[in-house]
Amino acid sequence: MDYADSSQARKTQWPRPLVFLSWLLITVLTAQVACAAPAPRFVQKDGRHALLVDGKPFLMLGGQIHNSSAWPSELAQVWESAAALHVNTLEAPIYWEQFEPQPGHFDTTNIDALVQGARARDLRLVLLWFGTWKNGKMYYVPSWVKADTQRFARVIRPDGEPIDVLSPLGRNTLQADKAAFVALMDYLKKIDGDKHTVLMVQVENEAGILGSARDNSPEANKLFEAAVPAEMLAAAHKTAGTWKEVFGDDADEIFQVYHQAKYINEIAAAGKAAFDIPVTINVWVTNPLAKRTTQLPGVDYPSGGAVHKRVDLWKALAPAIDAIGPDIYDKDPWVVESLTQPYLRAGYPLLIPEIGRNDNFAKDFYKALGLGAVGFAPFGIDRTGWNYLGDEKWTAHARNFELFHPMSREIAQLEFDGKVKTAVEEAGHASQEIDFGEWQATVTFPKSSGAAAPGGAALVAELGADEFFVTGTDASVVFHLKDKKPGERSQFVTVEQGHFENGAWKPLRLWNGDEAGGGFSFHQEPEVVRVKMQKF
Ligand code: DGJ
Repeated sequence: MDYADSSQARKTQWPRPLVFLSWLLITVLTAQVACAAPAPRFVQKDGRHALLVDGKPFLMLGGQIHNSSAWPSELAQVWESAAALHVNTLEAPIYWEQFEPQPGHFDTTNIDALVQGARARDLRLVLLWFGTWKNGKMYYVPSWVKADTQRFARVIRPDGEPIDVLSPLGRNTLQADKAAFVALMDYLKKIDGDKHTVLMVQVENEAGILGSARDNSPEANKLFEAAVPAEMLAAAHKTAGTWKEVFGDDADEIFQVYHQAKYINEIAAAGKAAFDIPVTINVWVTNPLAKRTTQLPGVDYPSGGAVHKRVDLWKALAPAIDAIGPDIYDKDPWVVESLTQPYLRAGYPLLIPEIGRNDNFAKDFYKALGLGAVGFAPFGIDRTGWNYLGDEKWTAHARNFELFHPMSREIAQLEFDGKVKTAVEEAGHASQEIDFGEWQATVTFPKSSGAAAPGGAALVAELGADEFFVTGTDASVVFHLKDKKPGERSQFVTVEQGHFENGAWKPLRLWNGDEAGGGFSFHQEPEVVRVKMQKF
């Protein structure tokens, strides 16, 4: 059609009912397109990951509430704490015992309170399904499950004693947990299918057995003495034999991994078939660096969980799981890096669903961003007068989140594009180099001699040719050309402090003189600069 034709068409008088019908059609179609922003999902590009929320990368600045705080009676103080910590996402449990008080009767009171409360405060949610397993025990199953030890099989210890953990071989338990989880996902689809308040659901919590390395029931023993299934052999790259022949001293734990991974995978897959949003698990970890301490499955950590040395098995056996998040409470400065590597190498996005809330874990946020994290959440953020590592305040996490909250979408995109690098203070290293090829940034930590918590940290993102975005706390950043000193054949043109407002950069002032000459200095204030460099 040429221009003459189309102007002709505009002049054509359409009958009124036809006009009304066309208007209706267009309105309906437009409304559908508006609602059709895809559900949250993980995507990958060149080995990097993003959590897409409403179609764009999202950095989850999370906070997990205490175990017994997801009740309407507790939420007022929860929302206050979430606001003070500057989170954009709250992680909150859904208790099977509360959700299904009688078989097949579902109570959505807690979910409704969480979803409505989050929406009213412009927060997102990650819901944690406290089902068959919670910290290697069966704490949160409904009382009708606890009561019926015949129908819901317990783990049996090697000495024949049943314990307070459910066995993954219990088909009835699997069916009951799966039915409840599907009911939860069905309900979320109904109330949140087009709103995306709930970003993902964690299935179970630190799953596994505490109290035995595996189930020793007669049924389990029969399977344990039989040949290892082909699927497990393929996952472990092993050749045929019994569990003991193939896996030796690790046989009990790996037998448990196999049954537990398949159990959880079946629940996750059924849940995603009902509502396709990411489903994740979290892990009671073992420390990969603790080489001289023996860490026994079933004693020191729940046997069967996706600990770092079992993550490849989980990857093969539980394909419905989108992310496996290590829970980090170890203050060892190397632990974040060493613990997260196996999960990254296995191809999972880096999600830290729990980390210590006190100040010395705050620099791990920068460490995690440098590794491409999609989410980071201190544990136990609401006021209960108790926290796992002591009831200290989370001042340093709050400072980080206040700084990153307004630019979390931009940082998520830059991370996904591979443009973000970070430096974190380490004892004995007063400075660090960040390498962008032609340009390098030297980061120094002026307070390093005092080794005071939380320690300095800096983030540098490459925005374009000779242009960077820089922020940090207790750190000073200076750019220089590769193999040249700062000031040799290079200088800064402008160092513009500003902030993001609805995705747009708003400049505030230019740094110069003492604030920029010897390096761009970041203290405790949440400040960000955009730096233009020049070669001459
Ligand atoms: C890790 C668990 O996942 C949390 O639910 C909580 O129990 C903490 N440990 C300890 O406070």
